[in-house]
Amino acid sequence: MAQVEEQIRGCTMCDLSRTRTNAVPGEGNRSANVMFIGEAPGFHEDRNGEPFVGAAGQFLNELLESIDLDRSTVYITNVVKCRPPGNRDPLPDELAACAHYIDRQIELIDPKVVVTLGRFSMSRWFPKERISRIHGTPKRFGNITVVPMYHPAAALHQGSLRATIEADMKKLPQILAQMEAEENEQEDPDAEQMKLF
Ligand code: URA
Repeated sequence: MAQVEEQIRGCTMCDLSRTRTNAVPGEGNRSANVMFIGEAPGFHEDRNGEPFVGAAGQFLNELLESIDLDRSTVYITNVVKCRPPGNRDPLPDELAACAHYIDRQIELIDPKVVVTLGRFSMSRWFPKERISRIHGTPKRFGNITVVPMYHPAAALHQGSLRATIEADMKKLPQILAQMEAEENEQEDPDAEQMKLF
């Protein structure tokens, strides 16, 4: 992972590399059970080289606290690693240039649960879906359960979404517990049998 993060810091595969201050590879526990994937760095993230440290990051911290999830135990990153000027939406060629980084990060971390924040990271798994329809609804893709959520910045701008993202986040502990229970069962197929004796 250190190698991938280093590659990202030096990446020049799209024009965002000309306007960025720092590329933002991601941060957190490199063997996390839960990975949060946002859109792209904003002003403060570009300055610091760290994800979700501005206003949206503050709100994300509050959401994590609300479910007693320590930020240092999860991995947080974005689909696009460099700030689009003026925080505009990432362009298709920028998303395409960055796609292999998120693929590799997911492969290395091998999380049980991925929480997508906003439609750009959601569309990797749900290309034709609308976030208003599927937010908060987990779906299994192989070993990974993906939980689409609204972007915290959207909830800051649109007050009515705040309660929605808060409620969606509250579902996360149960989703995670279920994944862990399933995994333990797979690791110990005799467990159920043994209980019978
Ligand atoms: N918004 C994002 O999607 N990512 C960040 O890192 C910060 C704000």
